[in-house]
Amino acid sequence: MVIQSLKIGTQYDFQLPKIVFGANSIASLPKEVNAFSKSKRVFIVTDKGIKKSGIIDNISELLRKSGVEFAIFESVVGEPTIQIVKEAMLAIKESKCDLVIGIGGGSCLDVAKSASLVDNLENVHEIVLKDTVVKPGLPVITVPTTFCNGSELSYASLIKLEDGVKHILHSPYLIPKVTIIDPSLTISLPQKQTLYSGLDALSHAVEAFMSKKAYALTDSLSQKAIKIIFENLPATFADGENLDIKYNMCLASLMAVIAVMSGAGVCLGHALSHTLGGYLDKPHGFLSGVALPYAMEYNIPAAYSKLAKVARIIGEKNKLLNMRELALKAIKNITDLYDQLNISVKLQEIKEDKIPELVEIMFTFFKSQLVRNPRVITKDDAIKIFINIRDGKILGI
Ligand SMILES: [Fe+2]
Repeated sequence: MVIQSLKIGTQYDFQLPKIVFGANSIASLPKEVNAFSKSKRVFIVTDKGIKKSGIIDNISELLRKSGVEFAIFESVVGEPTIQIVKEAMLAIKESKCDLVIGIGGGSCLDVAKSASLVDNLENVHEIVLKDTVVKPGLPVITVPTTFCNGSELSYASLIKLEDGVKHILHSPYLIPKVTIIDPSLTISLPQKQTLYSGLDALSHAVEAFMSKKAYALTDSLSQKAIKIIFENLPATFADGENLDIKYNMCLASLMAVIAVMSGAGVCLGHALSHTLGGYLDKPHGFLSGVALPYAMEYNIPAAYSKLAKVARIIGEKNKLLNMRELALKAIKNITDLYDQLNISVKLQEIKEDKIPELVEIMFTFFKSQLVRNPRVITKDDAIKIFINIRDGKILGI
């Protein structure tokens, strides 16, 4: 059998943290702390919602029983801003902790990772703008309480500067030592966040599959992830207490982010959602979900065979459809699912005169996602896509 997508001569180079996966795997946190903290003093980064859910109390108890002292920083609110990162860095320095544990959604994990670079505190602005981390930081353990979004295991960390523009910091120093993915921790996630986290996971899987950098390894992961997420998303929204469904979603979202991390990356959808995230006060998962069908539609001329496969993966049985019709069907079936989940793909709050600026931001800060996109995108194309998103115009309707 010839593996068509294997590009002989291309080197694939990726690094993942130790992954501990399973229901109640949080019980192994003290063992992992002992492996990386000499002082047995750890710094927990979280937010008030997670604190209120009782997750932090349970984890505190686990650590206390193992003789581990801890400080809790619970000031993460919304997107990971540079102000919060600096506050957390100062608090880490004062605490004299030697290990950082991020517990929560992507923002908590990103703040934990960025703030672990405590020795870079003096020039943190410059580091973000130049995207060069010069000194290593403290070891990090991540404990996601949402479905996997990438921050729990990636070398990247998102930071929002004072002007609202999102930057992504990349460094091997940002890779956590361990990530503990325990589906039971996602049970307490509010219904909307569960849905947005699921949309983000779906967008990672489909974008990784469409990516110009996709190859046999990433394709196998992303195809399986698309199938599981598409099948489980409605149930996870309807029944947040169902551990079997949460387990499936955690595993599939992990597959999707490993596909992203092992070379495929994300493409146009995430370039759009990150750009919009710096402008609109909307969650990343929601914006990524909204952007996905527009990115798929734009990519039809360059990725119709992949998109046709997506249609088959998510259950399209009609044997009379050609590749292009199937690609359109993939988009239609995804937007039908959104209708069922009450997700509108129309962002009418985008102001017409803001669109040229959004395009400039996307081409300046999210170029790497655009480079991976299977279809070349021009600034004129991008303007049309933002207008379509504003008008909710998908598939010509
Ligand atoms: Fe994402």
